[in-house]
Amino acid sequence: MKSILITGRVLACIAATAAFSITASSHAADATAAEKLARQEGCLRCHGIDRGKDGPAYKEVAAKFKGKSDAEARLLNHLSSGEKVKFPDGHQEEHKIPKTKDQDQIKNLVQWILSLT
Ligand code: HEC
Repeated sequence: MKSILITGRVLACIAATAAFSITASSHAADATAAEKLARQEGCLRCHGIDRGKDGPAYKEVAAKFKGKSDAEARLLNHLSSGEKVKFPDGHQEEHKIPKTKDQDQIKNLVQWILSLT
């Protein structure tokens, strides 16, 4: 009797773990890889995660785009177009375009930024 109970618990636990990993992966965003890329590309010199520097904090960006269905497309465009952005001192400059040509990595970075709260 006792062993059946334990087996049941183990199964419930495995099911819960599996369900969690499915939800986690559908939101993609490999945070470790994204942060590493942001560091390599020098994004973090101008953007803090919690704190703005010359550019807005990534959490502010996530808040600004929250609930917008085209958020990912807009940020991918932002990063590929080199559009003019305004710095705190008022001067304008073309935004940095990531050096990597790996679109999956860039997409992961964008999804990570949008996932920050
Ligand atoms: C030289 C400084 C600098 C670097 C390097 C930089 N950014 Fe920015 N970024 C800015 C500024 C300035 C803005 C715009 C602020 C504004 O217009 O309010 C901005 C805006 C953004 C936004 C918000 C766009 C929007 O439409 O609201 C995102 C997302 C972003 N940057 C991501 C990145 C990523 C990812 C990298 C690295 C590949 C990066 N930035 C590198 C300065 C920088």
